[in-house]
Amino acid sequence: MSMDGYEKAAETSEVPPGTSKIVKALGAEIFVVNIEGTFHSFPNKCTHAGGPLGRGRLAGSVMQCPWHGSKFDMNTGAVVGPPAKVPMVPFDVKVEGTTIWVRKSPQ
Ligand code: FES
Repeated sequence: MSMDGYEKAAETSEVPPGTSKIVKALGAEIFVVNIEGTFHSFPNKCTHAGGPLGRGRLAGSVMQCPWHGSKFDMNTGAVVGPPAKVPMVPFDVKVEGTTIWVRKSPQ
């Protein structure tokens, strides 16, 4: 972990636009998703019932959970389709060179 709390999550080449990748970082399973060249990251745990959201179907910026079909906007974590009611909380993401770094947002 770096001094500012960031941990390496992936290389940019591992997450092409329109895809997501599940990785271990920050003491948990998380995923990194590439929306038109911008990387976002969330816990791999849907807020509805804990499903593996990072394995979902991505259409544009919307990720659909493989378990019960909730939809989340990957730019913000907002719920855009039921049954989930609680938004996903994004990690902070920064890219340095070809490395994607993530951290829990300071409260
Ligand atoms: S666990 Fe994701 S929609 Fe139910």
